[in-house]
Amino acid sequence: MIEVENLSKSFTLHNQGSAVIKVLDGAAFRVGPGECVALTGESGAGKSTVMRILYGNYLAQGGRVSIGGVDLTRAAPREILALRRETLGYVSQFLRVVPRVPTLEVVAEPLLALGVEDDAAFVRARDLLTRLRIPETLWSLSPTTFSGGEQQRVNIARGFAHGYPALLLDEPTASLDATNRDTVLTLIEEAKAAGAAIVGIFHDAEARGRVADREVDVGRFTPVAA
Ligand SMILES: Nc1ncnc2c1ncn2[C@@H]1O[C@H](COP(=O)(O)OP(=O)(O)O)[C@@H](O)[C@H]1O
Ligand SMILES: [Mg+2]
Repeated sequence: MIEVENLSKSFTLHNQGSAVIKVLDGAAFRVGPGECVALTGESGAGKSTVMRILYGNYLAQGGRVSIGGVDLTRAAPREILALRRETLGYVSQFLRVVPRVPTLEVVAEPLLALGVEDDAAFVRARDLLTRLRIPETLWSLSPTTFSGGEQQRVNIARGFAHGYPALLLDEPTASLDATNRDTVLTLIEEAKAAGAAIVGIFHDAEARGRVADREVDVGRFTPVAA
């Protein structure tokens, strides 16, 4: 489902004398349906960079990234948008929402965008918000003023609304209490059981141990200084 081959990535800092930072060289891993792979490695190893390349936000200099049969290194922007709508979900570390959109719509939106009937989309959104303990009194409000933990749970509800065949999770359990963390890990287990291929960053070793089938140490792909 997710295939990374011989991936290299460097950043050129044009405003700092065009200094080049080499982050990845020869990165390679695969994630099959129903499998969860955890990216590990110390801060600055390139975990978030790998995630952004997988989501099509960063273009790699070399190598191949394929998700659900779509080659991200060659895909047109339109194909990447279709991939994100249908196949590839991403729970980022922080919720980014359009102001004034009610929480229930924020969560149902990925389903509505796929053409799911309003009733079914909102039933799913309500179910997820209930499971993630967002009080019903908040559902009609925009999440922009919610606490950090509430925003993160809305973000997770949105990310799990559609059963994406491939899912990227950046620290989905950070800053959650034990009960909500357990719910999120259960959602991940359910997604795996439904056949999703998942790549996650989990700083919490216990959470990682529960859902990850394998670990990929991104530090292994740090280029060796010439
Ligand atoms: N947009 C960017 N421009 C320049 N350098 C970047 C950019 N994004 C990441 N980097 C650099 O790439 C390296 C890896 O960063 P990152 O992927 O965020 O690591 P991690 O998530 O493992 O902590 C760091 O040295 C970071 O400074
Ligand atoms: Mg990071």
